[in-house]
Amino acid sequence: MNEYSAGKVDDYQDGDRKVVLCGEAEVGVFRIAGEFYAWHNRCAHRAGPVCQGRLMKRVLEPVDADGQVRAQAYDECEDHIICPWHGYEFSIRTGRHPGNERVRLRKAELIVRDGEIYVRA
Ligand code: FES
Repeated sequence: MNEYSAGKVDDYQDGDRKVVLCGEAEVGVFRIAGEFYAWHNRCAHRAGPVCQGRLMKRVLEPVDADGQVRAQAYDECEDHIICPWHGYEFSIRTGRHPGNERVRLRKAELIVRDGEIYVRA
């Protein structure tokens, strides 16, 4: 397994991401709430470029006493990425689809060493 540079820790502000070419693979590196995560840039649905999708908080649909959803809310503790091809979304922390835990992204090994970030793929 080879190691590829994904830049310096200081290159990433909170909420930033980079998609890094790692040989024949692409890996998305994300910085969320000070932590780094790395996922292969192949959606679990049909292999779309999921790491290039929009980042947003998890959407909640609170049900009222009448059993109706009248507004949307956002879970400020959960960051998701939305695949640009068909809209599947995944937790950046866990790689899991919120509605089906068997559908998940493939994790890439991430190493932080001496202020630099590396990905093994
Ligand atoms: S390929 Fe990602 S949602 Fe279909």
